[in-house]
Amino acid sequence: MKRAKITIIGAGNVGATCAHWAATKELGDIVLLDIVEGMPQGKALDLFEASPVEGFDANITGANDYAATADSDIVIITSGIPRKPGMSRDELLETNVKIVADVTSKVIADSPDAVLIIVSNPLDAMVYTAAKVSGFPTNRVVGQAGVLDTARYRSFIAAEIGCSVEDVHAMLLGGHGDDMVPLPRYTCVSGIPVSQLIAPGKLDEIVTRTRNGGAEIVNLLKTGSAYYAPSAASVSMAESIIRDKKRVMPCAAYCDSEYKIGGYFVGVPCVLGTGGVEKVIEVELDAREKAMLSTSVEHVKELCAATEKYLPK
Ligand code: NAI
Ligand code: 2OP
Repeated sequence: MKRAKITIIGAGNVGATCAHWAATKELGDIVLLDIVEGMPQGKALDLFEASPVEGFDANITGANDYAATADSDIVIITSGIPRKPGMSRDELLETNVKIVADVTSKVIADSPDAVLIIVSNPLDAMVYTAAKVSGFPTNRVVGQAGVLDTARYRSFIAAEIGCSVEDVHAMLLGGHGDDMVPLPRYTCVSGIPVSQLIAPGKLDEIVTRTRNGGAEIVNLLKTGSAYYAPSAASVSMAESIIRDKKRVMPCAAYCDSEYKIGGYFVGVPCVLGTGGVEKVIEVELDAREKAMLSTSVEHVKELCAATEKYLPK
């Protein structure tokens, strides 16, 4: 059976850590590409030299040239600047639209059948950018945000209850911003509704901490943003696609009639398999949840409108 080929654009904190998780999971052969000369080659070699110790088999190549990325099955785009303390994700827009537009046009030229997983921020605008520039069918362009946001939410819930993180299941909707919509009604611990395990006030605190989860790490690190959990989240999406696991994950996926969104990429529950986003699942929402989703979607639409002026003509 042919090994999958995974290209990761941007060999910084998120990109290099994606390579690490993907290699240890033996998802396939990995190409790590960056504009900085030598750096992706050095990180790829270092990771390859770890493989006998950890016992994983993968070809790991570092590159500055897109020729090395040809015929990739999955492309994870992490290139771009991260935020610093006090910055919002939206302040990265102008710089990162130009970077993501540039790398998308280069990588799709030699990998026309790939599924693109976008990670760069502001996430919802970068998925829009990659979709516009690639012209790919919308099922083959997807953004990573919800898996990270629910992972934060699930880990805080598990810590509060004192239970295994594995048993906490949660869903979240909307954009990757402060107005993301965690759904306590769709959160359970081994099937037990979370409302039976955590008092409402405490759960509200956890929701707020989840919404601010990115900023919490930025304020601690001071020189960049989170990367272990974001890269684990991105690679779990790649795994579901490569292994056709059809996991149900919250991802930034194209929604038209779904949730009456009208043609934007927004965080919703999706089935991820060989075809990329194979299905968007619509869950019932009450009036409050609908209002929160609508606020979040309006923000995504504003970001996409702002993106237009930086897209290549
Ligand atoms: P980083 O600064 O460590 O790495 C970014 C890398 O991109 C650098 O190595 C840089 O040389 C490279 N790069 C810049 N322009 C490039 C180009 N034209 N072609 C190829 N490579 C290029 O940043 P980090 O921490 O890895 O974050 C990357 C992006 O991911 C940021 O925009 C950050 O905000 C975003 N992010 C998104 C998350 C999400 O949940 N969606 C979570 C964490 C980070
Ligand atoms: C995060 O939520 C930076 O968006 C990234 O950590």
